[in-house]
Amino acid sequence: MIFPAAPGPARATGRPGDRREAAVLQQIDHVGIACYDLEAAIARYESLFDLTVASRELHEDQGVREAMLRVGEGPAGASWIQLLEPIGPDTPVGKFLARRGEGIHHVGYRVTNITAALEAIGARGVRLLDQRPRHGSMGASIAFLHPADMGRVLTELVEPPET
Ligand code: CO
Repeated sequence: MIFPAAPGPARATGRPGDRREAAVLQQIDHVGIACYDLEAAIARYESLFDLTVASRELHEDQGVREAMLRVGEGPAGASWIQLLEPIGPDTPVGKFLARRGEGIHHVGYRVTNITAALEAIGARGVRLLDQRPRHGSMGASIAFLHPADMGRVLTELVEPPET
């Protein structure tokens, strides 16, 4: 069986929105998991995997309380499990739970430059739920891509804070 040759690597042009920027996904930053009961979900991950909670946050603008548990170190730093409990039914995660029940809510990819990545990915025709980055967990800048353009996977870009 013959497959068409894969396209060669795009060349960097140095322009803003350089197509190559969109491919700068360093690693999976975190997997977001929707749950009814945050404490029960934390207890599951702590007791089964000996993970510990590194951060608990309440994001009223997003309608969630959440916990970040460090999974391990990758080449570009730690990866995380993000447990999400809605603060009410009329929130994005609340509606997700009503529609689909508990489970994986989104995948977060770490990028080096979220503004450039958003611009480049948007230029490829993916609708952006966030036109510009906003504040996420643990001081990161985040933005979501529309799941309808991502095979029904809610996809988040994450640029960690400067260390
Ligand atoms: Co997330």
